[in-house]
Amino acid sequence: FEDLSLEQNLRPHSFDQYIGQDQVKNNLKIFIEAAKMRMETLDHVLLYGPPGLGKTTLAAIIANEMGGNLRTTSGPAIERPGDLAAVLTAIEPGDVLFIDEIHRLNRAIEEVLYPAMEDFCLDIVIGKGAGARSIRIDLPPFTLVGATTRAGALSAPLRDRFGVLSRLEYYKPDQLIEIVFRTASILDAEIDEGAANEIALRSRGTPRIANRLLRRVRDFAQVKGDGTITRALANEALDLLQVDRLGLDHIDHKLLRGIIEKFNGGPVGLDTIAATIGEEAETIEDVYEPYLLQIGFLQRTPRGRVVTGAVYEHFHMEVPKK
Ligand code: ADE
Repeated sequence: FEDLSLEQNLRPHSFDQYIGQDQVKNNLKIFIEAAKMRMETLDHVLLYGPPGLGKTTLAAIIANEMGGNLRTTSGPAIERPGDLAAVLTAIEPGDVLFIDEIHRLNRAIEEVLYPAMEDFCLDIVIGKGAGARSIRIDLPPFTLVGATTRAGALSAPLRDRFGVLSRLEYYKPDQLIEIVFRTASILDAEIDEGAANEIALRSRGTPRIANRLLRRVRDFAQVKGDGTITRALANEALDLLQVDRLGLDHIDHKLLRGIIEKFNGGPVGLDTIAATIGEEAETIEDVYEPYLLQIGFLQRTPRGRVVTGAVYEHFHMEVPKK
Protein backbone atom coordinates (compact mmCIF):
# COMPACT_ATOMS: atom_id res chain seq x y z
CA PHE A 1 0.00 0.00 0.00
CA GLU A 2 1.03 3.51 -0.71
CA ASP A 3 2.56 5.35 2.21
CA LEU A 4 -0.09 7.78 3.42
CA SER A 5 2.53 10.31 4.49
CA LEU A 6 3.23 10.80 0.79
CA GLU A 7 0.27 13.16 0.75
CA GLN A 8 2.09 15.34 3.26
CA ASN A 9 5.29 15.19 1.25
CA LEU A 10 3.52 16.51 -1.82
CA ARG A 11 3.16 19.86 -0.14
CA PRO A 12 6.06 22.26 -0.56
CA HIS A 13 7.85 22.82 2.75
CA SER A 14 9.64 26.09 1.97
CA PHE A 15 9.15 29.18 -0.16
CA ASP A 16 11.81 27.83 -2.52
CA GLN A 17 9.65 24.80 -3.31
CA TYR A 18 6.43 26.78 -3.55
CA ILE A 19 5.48 27.61 -7.13
CA GLY A 20 3.41 30.70 -7.96
CA GLN A 21 1.72 33.40 -5.83
CA ASP A 22 4.91 35.41 -6.31
CA GLN A 23 3.61 38.64 -4.85
CA VAL A 24 2.24 37.02 -1.69
CA LYS A 25 5.39 34.94 -1.33
CA ASN A 26 7.82 37.82 -1.83
CA ASN A 27 6.00 40.06 0.61
CA LEU A 28 5.82 37.33 3.25
CA LYS A 29 9.54 36.59 2.84
CA ILE A 30 10.36 40.23 3.63
CA PHE A 31 8.00 40.43 6.62
CA ILE A 32 9.42 37.18 7.99
CA GLU A 33 13.02 38.29 7.52
CA ALA A 34 12.30 41.64 9.19
CA ALA A 35 10.54 39.99 12.13
CA LYS A 36 13.45 37.59 12.58
CA MET A 37 15.97 40.46 12.49
CA ARG A 38 14.02 42.17 15.28
CA MET A 39 13.65 38.85 17.11
CA GLU A 40 9.88 39.35 17.13
CA THR A 41 7.03 37.19 16.01
CA LEU A 42 5.51 37.86 12.61
CA ASP A 43 2.38 40.01 12.61
CA HIS A 44 -0.90 38.12 12.21
CA VAL A 45 -1.58 37.09 8.61
CA LEU A 46 -4.92 36.72 6.84
CA LEU A 47 -4.83 34.57 3.69
CA TYR A 48 -7.92 34.75 1.53
CA GLY A 49 -9.04 33.45 -1.81
CA PRO A 50 -10.75 30.47 -3.45
CA PRO A 51 -10.20 26.96 -2.04
CA GLY A 52 -7.28 24.79 -3.16
CA LEU A 53 -4.79 27.59 -3.88
CA GLY A 54 -2.41 26.79 -1.02
CA LYS A 55 -3.50 28.69 2.10
CA THR A 56 -2.81 25.78 4.46
CA THR A 57 0.50 25.10 2.74
CA LEU A 58 1.56 28.73 3.17
CA ALA A 59 0.68 28.63 6.88
CA ALA A 60 2.93 25.58 7.29
CA ILE A 61 5.73 27.31 5.37
CA ILE A 62 5.39 30.43 7.54
CA ALA A 63 5.74 28.28 10.67
CA ASN A 64 8.74 26.53 9.14
CA GLU A 65 10.49 29.72 8.15
CA MET A 66 9.78 31.33 11.54
CA GLY A 67 11.03 28.21 13.31
CA GLY A 68 7.80 27.71 15.29
CA ASN A 69 5.32 24.86 15.57
CA LEU A 70 2.22 24.88 13.43
CA ARG A 71 -1.00 24.41 15.38
CA THR A 72 -4.04 23.90 13.22
CA THR A 73 -7.72 24.35 13.92
CA SER A 74 -10.75 25.75 12.11
CA GLY A 75 -13.67 28.11 12.63
CA PRO A 76 -16.31 25.37 12.83
CA ALA A 77 -14.17 23.28 15.22
CA ILE A 78 -14.17 26.03 17.85
CA GLU A 79 -17.68 25.99 19.25
CA ARG A 80 -17.29 27.54 22.71
CA PRO A 81 -14.86 30.10 24.18
CA GLY A 82 -13.35 27.26 26.23
CA ASP A 83 -12.36 25.47 22.99
CA LEU A 84 -10.34 28.48 21.92
CA ALA A 85 -8.88 28.92 25.42
CA ALA A 86 -7.65 25.31 25.28
CA VAL A 87 -5.94 25.96 21.94
CA LEU A 88 -4.41 29.27 23.05
CA THR A 89 -3.02 28.00 26.35
CA ALA A 90 -1.22 25.15 24.54
CA ILE A 91 0.76 27.63 22.44
CA GLU A 92 4.52 27.93 22.83
CA PRO A 93 6.48 31.12 22.09
CA GLY A 94 6.82 31.73 18.35
CA ASP A 95 4.19 29.19 17.31
CA VAL A 96 1.92 29.74 14.35
CA LEU A 97 -1.76 29.17 15.08
CA PHE A 98 -3.60 28.41 11.86
CA ILE A 99 -7.36 28.91 11.89
CA ASP A 100 -8.92 27.68 8.67
CA GLU A 101 -12.37 28.97 7.64
CA ILE A 102 -11.90 31.75 10.15
CA HIS A 103 -15.03 33.53 8.87
CA ARG A 104 -17.07 30.79 10.56
CA LEU A 105 -15.99 31.72 14.09
CA ASN A 106 -18.94 32.96 16.09
CA ARG A 107 -19.08 36.33 17.75
CA ALA A 108 -18.45 35.12 21.31
CA ILE A 109 -15.26 33.39 20.18
CA GLU A 110 -14.08 36.45 18.28
CA GLU A 111 -14.32 38.40 21.53
CA VAL A 112 -11.86 35.98 23.13
CA LEU A 113 -9.58 36.20 20.13
CA TYR A 114 -9.21 40.00 20.08
CA PRO A 115 -7.15 40.43 23.29
CA ALA A 116 -5.20 37.28 22.39
CA MET A 117 -4.21 38.83 19.05
CA GLU A 118 -3.63 42.32 20.33
CA ASP A 119 -2.06 41.89 23.77
CA PHE A 120 -1.27 38.15 23.90
CA CYS A 121 -3.60 37.60 26.81
CA LEU A 122 -6.70 35.66 27.58
CA ASP A 123 -9.60 36.88 29.70
CA ILE A 124 -11.67 34.06 31.01
CA VAL A 125 -14.72 34.15 33.21
CA ILE A 126 -14.88 31.53 35.91
CA GLY A 127 -17.96 30.74 37.93
CA LYS A 128 -21.51 31.91 37.45
CA GLY A 129 -23.83 34.58 38.87
CA ALA A 130 -22.64 36.56 41.91
CA GLY A 131 -19.49 34.49 42.31
CA ALA A 132 -18.36 34.93 38.73
CA ARG A 133 -15.07 36.69 38.17
CA SER A 134 -12.70 37.26 35.34
CA ILE A 135 -9.09 36.20 35.34
CA ARG A 136 -6.41 37.23 32.90
CA ILE A 137 -3.83 34.77 31.60
CA ASP A 138 -0.74 35.91 29.71
CA LEU A 139 -0.01 34.05 26.50
CA PRO A 140 3.33 33.66 24.78
CA PRO A 141 3.80 35.76 21.64
CA PHE A 142 2.48 33.90 18.59
CA THR A 143 1.38 34.51 15.02
CA LEU A 144 -2.19 33.87 13.99
CA VAL A 145 -2.61 32.83 10.38
CA GLY A 146 -6.27 32.96 9.38
CA ALA A 147 -7.61 31.54 6.14
CA THR A 148 -10.89 32.28 4.48
CA THR A 149 -12.50 31.95 1.09
CA ARG A 150 -14.20 35.30 1.62
CA ALA A 151 -12.48 38.23 3.31
CA GLY A 152 -15.78 40.07 3.07
CA ALA A 153 -17.44 37.54 5.38
CA LEU A 154 -15.08 38.48 8.23
CA SER A 155 -16.26 41.00 10.78
CA ALA A 156 -14.47 44.34 10.44
CA PRO A 157 -12.93 44.27 13.95
CA LEU A 158 -11.42 40.84 13.28
CA ARG A 159 -10.13 41.81 9.83
CA ASP A 160 -8.56 44.96 11.29
CA ARG A 161 -6.46 42.94 13.72
CA PHE A 162 -4.42 41.31 10.96
CA GLY A 163 -1.23 43.15 10.03
CA VAL A 164 -0.78 41.30 6.76
CA LEU A 165 -3.63 40.64 4.31
CA SER A 166 -2.75 38.47 1.34
CA ARG A 167 -5.07 37.48 -1.47
CA LEU A 168 -4.24 34.27 -3.33
CA GLU A 169 -4.90 34.27 -7.06
CA TYR A 170 -5.71 31.51 -9.52
CA TYR A 171 -2.52 29.99 -10.96
CA LYS A 172 -1.37 30.52 -14.55
CA PRO A 173 -1.18 27.42 -16.80
CA ASP A 174 2.65 27.57 -16.85
CA GLN A 175 2.76 27.47 -13.06
CA LEU A 176 0.31 24.57 -12.96
CA ILE A 177 2.44 22.66 -15.47
CA GLU A 178 5.42 23.15 -13.18
CA ILE A 179 3.37 21.93 -10.20
CA VAL A 180 2.16 18.87 -12.13
CA PHE A 181 5.75 17.96 -13.06
CA ARG A 182 6.87 18.48 -9.47
CA THR A 183 4.08 16.28 -8.07
CA ALA A 184 4.60 13.62 -10.77
CA SER A 185 8.25 13.44 -9.85
CA ILE A 186 7.44 12.97 -6.16
CA LEU A 187 4.90 10.28 -7.09
CA ASP A 188 7.51 8.69 -9.36
CA ALA A 189 5.12 8.91 -12.31
CA GLU A 190 6.36 9.46 -15.84
CA ILE A 191 4.46 12.17 -17.67
CA ASP A 192 5.01 13.95 -20.98
CA GLU A 193 4.76 17.69 -21.61
CA GLY A 194 1.47 17.35 -23.53
CA ALA A 195 -0.22 15.51 -20.67
CA ALA A 196 1.02 18.01 -18.08
CA ASN A 197 -0.27 20.79 -20.30
CA GLU A 198 -3.68 19.14 -20.63
CA ILE A 199 -4.04 18.61 -16.86
CA ALA A 200 -2.93 22.20 -16.20
CA LEU A 201 -5.50 23.61 -18.63
CA ARG A 202 -8.29 21.59 -17.08
CA SER A 203 -7.63 22.29 -13.42
CA ARG A 204 -9.38 25.66 -13.03
CA GLY A 205 -6.26 27.50 -11.97
CA THR A 206 -6.14 25.34 -8.83
CA PRO A 207 -3.17 23.18 -7.74
CA ARG A 208 -5.38 20.95 -5.56
CA ILE A 209 -7.45 20.07 -8.63
CA ALA A 210 -4.34 19.65 -10.81
CA ASN A 211 -2.84 17.19 -8.33
CA ARG A 212 -6.12 15.28 -8.02
CA LEU A 213 -6.50 15.00 -11.79
CA LEU A 214 -2.88 13.90 -12.07
CA ARG A 215 -3.54 11.02 -9.67
CA ARG A 216 -6.65 9.91 -11.51
CA VAL A 217 -4.94 10.14 -14.91
CA ARG A 218 -2.04 8.14 -13.50
CA ASP A 219 -4.53 5.42 -12.55
CA PHE A 220 -5.70 5.23 -16.16
CA ALA A 221 -2.13 5.20 -17.47
CA GLN A 222 -1.27 2.35 -15.13
CA VAL A 223 -4.25 0.18 -16.01
CA LYS A 224 -4.82 1.02 -19.68
CA GLY A 225 -1.32 1.97 -20.79
CA ASP A 226 2.24 1.15 -19.84
CA GLY A 227 2.32 3.61 -16.92
CA THR A 228 3.60 6.59 -18.88
CA ILE A 229 1.13 9.47 -18.84
CA THR A 230 0.79 10.72 -22.41
CA ARG A 231 -1.38 13.49 -23.78
CA ALA A 232 -3.71 11.00 -25.50
CA LEU A 233 -4.15 9.02 -22.28
CA ALA A 234 -4.66 12.20 -20.26
CA ASN A 235 -7.31 13.41 -22.67
CA GLU A 236 -9.14 10.10 -22.66
CA ALA A 237 -9.06 9.91 -18.85
CA LEU A 238 -10.16 13.51 -18.35
CA ASP A 239 -13.09 13.01 -20.72
CA LEU A 240 -14.12 9.92 -18.77
CA LEU A 241 -13.83 11.95 -15.55
CA GLN A 242 -16.28 14.43 -17.09
CA VAL A 243 -13.85 17.30 -16.87
CA ASP A 244 -14.34 19.41 -19.97
CA ARG A 245 -11.82 21.42 -22.06
CA LEU A 246 -12.04 24.35 -19.67
CA GLY A 247 -11.87 22.17 -16.58
CA LEU A 248 -15.55 22.52 -15.79
CA ASP A 249 -17.04 19.47 -14.12
CA HIS A 250 -20.57 18.14 -13.99
CA ILE A 251 -21.58 20.47 -11.16
CA ASP A 252 -20.41 23.53 -13.12
CA HIS A 253 -22.44 22.18 -16.03
CA LYS A 254 -25.51 21.58 -13.89
CA LEU A 255 -25.22 25.12 -12.54
CA LEU A 256 -24.80 26.82 -15.91
CA ARG A 257 -27.37 24.68 -17.74
CA GLY A 258 -29.79 25.15 -14.85
CA ILE A 259 -29.63 28.93 -15.23
CA ILE A 260 -30.06 28.66 -19.01
CA GLU A 261 -32.81 26.05 -19.09
CA LYS A 262 -34.87 27.05 -16.05
CA PHE A 263 -34.26 30.78 -15.84
CA ASN A 264 -33.63 31.73 -19.43
CA GLY A 265 -30.01 32.67 -18.65
CA GLY A 266 -30.89 34.74 -15.54
CA PRO A 267 -30.87 36.93 -13.61
CA VAL A 268 -31.63 34.49 -10.83
CA GLY A 269 -30.85 34.60 -7.11
CA LEU A 270 -28.20 32.37 -5.57
CA ASP A 271 -30.62 30.60 -3.20
CA THR A 272 -32.98 29.83 -6.06
CA ILE A 273 -30.18 28.29 -8.14
CA ALA A 274 -28.99 26.33 -5.12
CA ALA A 275 -32.46 24.89 -4.50
CA THR A 276 -32.92 24.03 -8.19
CA ILE A 277 -29.70 22.08 -8.60
CA GLY A 278 -29.57 20.67 -5.07
CA GLU A 279 -26.26 22.16 -3.94
CA GLU A 280 -25.53 24.36 -0.90
CA ALA A 281 -25.63 28.08 -1.68
CA GLU A 282 -22.41 28.53 0.27
CA THR A 283 -20.63 25.84 -1.76
CA ILE A 284 -21.74 27.43 -5.00
CA GLU A 285 -20.60 30.85 -3.81
CA ASP A 286 -17.23 29.76 -2.39
CA VAL A 287 -16.21 26.89 -4.67
CA TYR A 288 -17.92 27.12 -8.05
CA GLU A 289 -18.75 30.75 -8.70
CA PRO A 290 -15.33 32.38 -8.28
CA TYR A 291 -13.82 30.55 -11.26
CA LEU A 292 -16.90 31.02 -13.44
CA LEU A 293 -16.80 34.74 -12.65
CA GLN A 294 -13.07 34.82 -13.37
CA ILE A 295 -13.42 33.26 -16.85
CA GLY A 296 -16.37 35.51 -17.66
CA PHE A 297 -19.01 32.77 -17.73
CA LEU A 298 -21.07 34.27 -14.94
CA GLN A 299 -21.89 37.78 -13.86
CA ARG A 300 -23.29 39.04 -10.59
CA THR A 301 -25.91 41.74 -10.93
CA PRO A 302 -28.10 43.37 -8.28
CA ARG A 303 -30.95 41.15 -9.49
CA GLY A 304 -28.99 37.91 -9.42
CA ARG A 305 -26.64 35.73 -11.47
CA VAL A 306 -26.57 35.93 -15.24
CA VAL A 307 -24.76 33.60 -17.67
CA THR A 308 -22.84 35.26 -20.51
CA GLY A 309 -22.80 34.54 -24.24
CA ALA A 310 -19.54 32.61 -23.76
CA VAL A 311 -21.47 29.89 -21.92
CA TYR A 312 -23.86 29.36 -24.84
CA GLU A 313 -20.88 29.16 -27.20
CA HIS A 314 -19.13 26.67 -24.91
CA PHE A 315 -22.23 24.45 -24.96
CA HIS A 316 -22.66 24.94 -28.73
CA MET A 317 -26.00 26.63 -28.14
CA GLU A 318 -27.39 29.60 -29.95
CA VAL A 319 -26.80 32.83 -28.04
CA PRO A 320 -30.24 34.32 -27.33
CA LYS A 321 -30.91 37.88 -28.43
CA LYS A 322 -32.17 39.97 -25.55
N1 ADE B 1 1.58 21.57 -4.79
C1 ADE B 1 0.40 22.18 -4.58
N2 ADE B 1 0.55 23.51 -4.67
C2 ADE B 1 1.84 23.75 -4.93
C3 ADE B 1 2.61 24.94 -5.14
N3 ADE B 1 2.05 26.15 -5.10
N4 ADE B 1 3.91 24.80 -5.40
C4 ADE B 1 4.47 23.57 -5.45
N5 ADE B 1 3.81 22.43 -5.28
C5 ADE B 1 2.50 22.52 -5.02
